[in-house]
Amino acid sequence: MSETLQELPMGVLPADSAQNSIQESLQTQHQQEPQEQQEQQEQQMQSPAQQPLQSRQTSGKYTLKDFHILRTLGTGSFGRVHLVRSNHNGRFYAMKVLKKKTIVKLKQVEHTNDERRMLAVVTHPFIIRMWGTFQDSEQVFMIMDYIEGGELFSLLRKSQRFPNPVAKFYAAEVCLALEYMHSQDIIYRDLKPENVLLDKNGHVKITDFGFAKHVPDVTYTLCGTPDYIAPEVVSTKPYNKSVDWWSFGILIFEMLAGYTPFYDSNTMKTYENILNAQLQFPPFFHADVQDLLTQLITRDLSKRLGNLQNGTDDVKNHAWFSEVVWEKLLCRNIETPYEPPIQSGQGDTSQYDRYPEEEIFYGTDAEDPHKDLFAEF
Ligand SMILES: Nc1ncnc2c1ncn2[C@@H]1O[C@H](COP(=O)(O)OP(=O)(O)O)[C@@H](O)[C@H]1O
Ligand SMILES: [Mg+2]
Repeated sequence: MSETLQELPMGVLPADSAQNSIQESLQTQHQQEPQEQQEQQEQQMQSPAQQPLQSRQTSGKYTLKDFHILRTLGTGSFGRVHLVRSNHNGRFYAMKVLKKKTIVKLKQVEHTNDERRMLAVVTHPFIIRMWGTFQDSEQVFMIMDYIEGGELFSLLRKSQRFPNPVAKFYAAEVCLALEYMHSQDIIYRDLKPENVLLDKNGHVKITDFGFAKHVPDVTYTLCGTPDYIAPEVVSTKPYNKSVDWWSFGILIFEMLAGYTPFYDSNTMKTYENILNAQLQFPPFFHADVQDLLTQLITRDLSKRLGNLQNGTDDVKNHAWFSEVVWEKLLCRNIETPYEPPIQSGQGDTSQYDRYPEEEIFYGTDAEDPHKDLFAEF
């Protein structure tokens, strides 16, 4: 099968009419695996409505000895993510490893602790689930579900750009994840295709809470990824959830165009564009999405959709999303536009790029000057 999405039929989001109620869709789920069924029931119970910021119960403390380390799935500025296999249940997980020295040097201690805290709190069908964390004298470790379908980034680059309904499908799932985070007063701050993974069925899983933070009021820190950073962050004004809606607009733009609107090879010029350049749409952008993006990628915070009195509802009720049945989508009950060609449950890494492997020295037990900084791990 071709891996590009250019050839997909346009009816990706079937215009489900009212006859197709949530009740009915739930009844069709009997053929699913017990684990999936249970997951979906959990999601039913855990509606994205307001809930206090409370850590989930994870099943005890893990150590490095509980896992067999396999290949690298991704690398970032602060560490790397490995595929690992549990020595107990034989299942595959992703293990994010961050070097304490690097975290301290790059002044990311608070962000790293926030990442752990936020991951321990979030429970949503379109957000990665963390199972536990631990540390040795040199690094901290986070164990998450392994998401087999790869980065949305890879699919987008292979496809060049997505047809309107495909971009709409991914955007709608991301929108529900953002709605949930914001309902918990969590701002995400790093929305981009590299951090959006696809599960075995092709549903979205947002990973990387490296910049996520519980912010009931406002914050100032400059962080994120240049192309996706909101103007209020660039100009170091106080900001809140508004920044995620800007990035959400950039994500939709990139999915449809194949490039970001303010790109420049020189980062300073990118920032300048974010602050001043006019947003220009390729001619093939649908009028509805042009309208939506004009309201998301606006520098005027009093006009930015998602940031107004009705919050996420304004985004969900926008004409571009008119055929989305949000309740069904939340139950993952809408067919995905693309099923990753993977063998599920086998540690299949075919959808991930290869990275040079390093010799691994995890499990060190030396003097640790930074132990107190990462006490929660
Ligand atoms: N749970 C996961 N399952 C599979 N791959 C993952 C998972 N988490 C992260 N990755 C891969 O590792 C990359 C880096 O992880 P990320 O948390 O984004 O770290 P960084 O903060 O360095 O960007 C991701 O872009 C993705 O390719
Ligand atoms: Mg990342």
